[in-house]
Amino acid sequence: MKTSPKSAGKTVITAALPYANGPLHIGFLLEAIQADIYARALRSMQKDALYICASDMHGTPIEINAKKAGLEPETFVEKYWKEHQQDAASFLISFDNFHKTHSKENKELSEYFFTELKKKKYIYIKKMDVIYCPKCERTLPDRYIRGTCPLCGTADQYGDVCEGCGSVLKGTDLLNPKCSLCGTTPHIKASPHYFFKLSAFAGKLKKWINSKQADLQPEVKNWLKEWLDKGLEDWCISRDAPYFGFEIPDSKKECGEVKYFYVWLDAPIGYISSTRNYCEKQSGKQGKQKTCRWEDYWKKGSAHHFIGKDISYFHFLFWPAMLMAMDIPLPKLTVHGFITVNGQKMSKSRGTFFTAKEFHKLYGAEALRFYYASHLQRKVVDVDLNFDEFAAVVNNVLVGKLGNFCYRSLTFAEKNYGELPALKPTENKALTKKVLFLSEKIKKNYLAQDYHGAVKNILLIADLGNAYFQKAEPWKSKDDPKTKAAVSWCVSLARNLAVLISPVLPEFSKKVFSALGEKNLVFTDINFKWKGKVSAVQLLVNKVEIVRKESFPLQLTVGKILEVKDHPNADSLYLLKVDLGNLGKRQVVAGLKKHFRKEDLTGRKAVFVANMKSAKLRGEMSEAMVLAADDVAHVGILEVEKLNPGDEVHFEGTENSHAEITFDEFIKINMTVQAGRVFYAGKKLISALEEVKVHGVNDGAKVR
Ligand code: MSP
Ligand code: ZN
Repeated sequence: MKTSPKSAGKTVITAALPYANGPLHIGFLLEAIQADIYARALRSMQKDALYICASDMHGTPIEINAKKAGLEPETFVEKYWKEHQQDAASFLISFDNFHKTHSKENKELSEYFFTELKKKKYIYIKKMDVIYCPKCERTLPDRYIRGTCPLCGTADQYGDVCEGCGSVLKGTDLLNPKCSLCGTTPHIKASPHYFFKLSAFAGKLKKWINSKQADLQPEVKNWLKEWLDKGLEDWCISRDAPYFGFEIPDSKKECGEVKYFYVWLDAPIGYISSTRNYCEKQSGKQGKQKTCRWEDYWKKGSAHHFIGKDISYFHFLFWPAMLMAMDIPLPKLTVHGFITVNGQKMSKSRGTFFTAKEFHKLYGAEALRFYYASHLQRKVVDVDLNFDEFAAVVNNVLVGKLGNFCYRSLTFAEKNYGELPALKPTENKALTKKVLFLSEKIKKNYLAQDYHGAVKNILLIADLGNAYFQKAEPWKSKDDPKTKAAVSWCVSLARNLAVLISPVLPEFSKKVFSALGEKNLVFTDINFKWKGKVSAVQLLVNKVEIVRKESFPLQLTVGKILEVKDHPNADSLYLLKVDLGNLGKRQVVAGLKKHFRKEDLTGRKAVFVANMKSAKLRGEMSEAMVLAADDVAHVGILEVEKLNPGDEVHFEGTENSHAEITFDEFIKINMTVQAGRVFYAGKKLISALEEVKVHGVNDGAKVR
């Protein structure tokens, strides 16, 4: 096992590569902010720290979603790649590079890893059973098979895990399996695949997890011990066509058909390719010597990955084993828990899902950065984004203590004095000493990724400052040299506080520095020697006002129409069989027969009212209601493309109620169509991913 030489000091910090399969959300931001604070703290300590990320572009879900969106996968992922960068930048994430896994660097490096590992006999080919859908003509990943759990009998479960009993499954375990894409019964077939000899690394991994160098979090160490005790199975690193990924060299020759690298093989290699892409761009820059090489960071320096708990297996077993085989030193890792919102799992259907964009628009970047920092401690615990607490932390603590002290000191100096003299070293000695002592502690807090501790100690300093300012009462004797000295000390303290908080609040700090005529101060600039003039003080932070969502009486849920039949007793009615995702399958009586043929409706996704009281309509049960827009001449259903059955849509600024509603209550709700979109009281019908569309009806059409 290789360890990195201590002297090198080059560090590459990474956040896990988000899938280019949807917009960034506040869960990923927890990780991006956690790693960003670390990168900024190291830079403030004048270390050579690169913060590297990329979009993870490969795999079946991306390939299938691109197809659904009518795009080539290359076009689909490119769109999210651009969006991810904008969203990260809006939260002040200081990536040095944000590359992509579908890149020439990553193709080259993945092939290089593969051929090296093969040469070293860590890769072999073995026939295995895969599940194949003859209609879709594809091998199905476990996630794309649905069937009955063999252990508890719960029907309609995904092939990777049963939601009924929580058991981890394989697609081949399911009883009565169906392709989740087309409903066909798939069959098992044998297919040759490439395997990585993970089992050969068990001994070395055991040694590593107990080493000081690994410095594992205790929770993680326990998981790893369990996994290693259970025994490691070799890892299948190839996938069948069609697949969006890199073709495996010689696979056609060796397996009789083309195989692709499994997304989890080339994704972590993406960390290195993004570093390499950064270095190549740097070296290409005018006047730069060719000094930047990925090897300097990965082989002579050290890597530090920040990841969520869900991807631990990949980062603590597969990836280190690959690195060992490649003679690349092992990384350090920090695992964080998941974000919950008001105590609930983030979910689109519960309205607890926030994209980065939505959240930024409501509350800005630094409020979230400060809230997350206050909760982060290099522990594998979930972090709850509770909106009452969020408002209290931002308004009472960030604005009320830290912001207040810096702002009042700076504005007082700006208003009352021109040049302020430097302090004599004898002035305010005891407090100065305290602050410098706390500053050292704060630096250590950052290095230990104990941001909770860093924030706590910074607030202690702010409290000292506020108490000192209050006691000095500078407004009573402005021209007294003693008062001037006191204010000068406060300005110095504000300057130091801005340095100390800069990894968390880069914009806040920048504003303080700019009022002092300085920029980019780092930890070694902390002192009480400042003199000069304070000018053009800007507002440093804003209070947040929590936007409570108004309650809307309908549970507007996406459903997929599986089947359309004639109603046995009514000429104008259909009987729909609708898949409402986690709400199950329901029968819906719909008055659409005059306007749609059966084949026009079958397979389409539309918006349903899921909390409508069930009723018998002409002798048939209707367990939900389909919404349709009607302008007297035409009728259109409310359509979505990207959302899945069970996802909810909502009117802007409202939250769906799930309480049962009667038809009489329903008809009082006035929803209409303007320019192909649905409105209620001026609010548009939307979701985190898309707006709900209606085709072929005129403006003013009523939705019923
Ligand atoms: N593409 C893989 C990572 C490959 S790294 C070589 C992946 N992508 S992801 O988009 O699903 O997740 C990216 C990161 O965000 C992961 O570390 C994941 O744990 C984290 N989070 C996703 N949802 C989260 C929360 N709700 N809360 C906190 N972090 C979460 O996995
Ligand atoms: Zn199929």
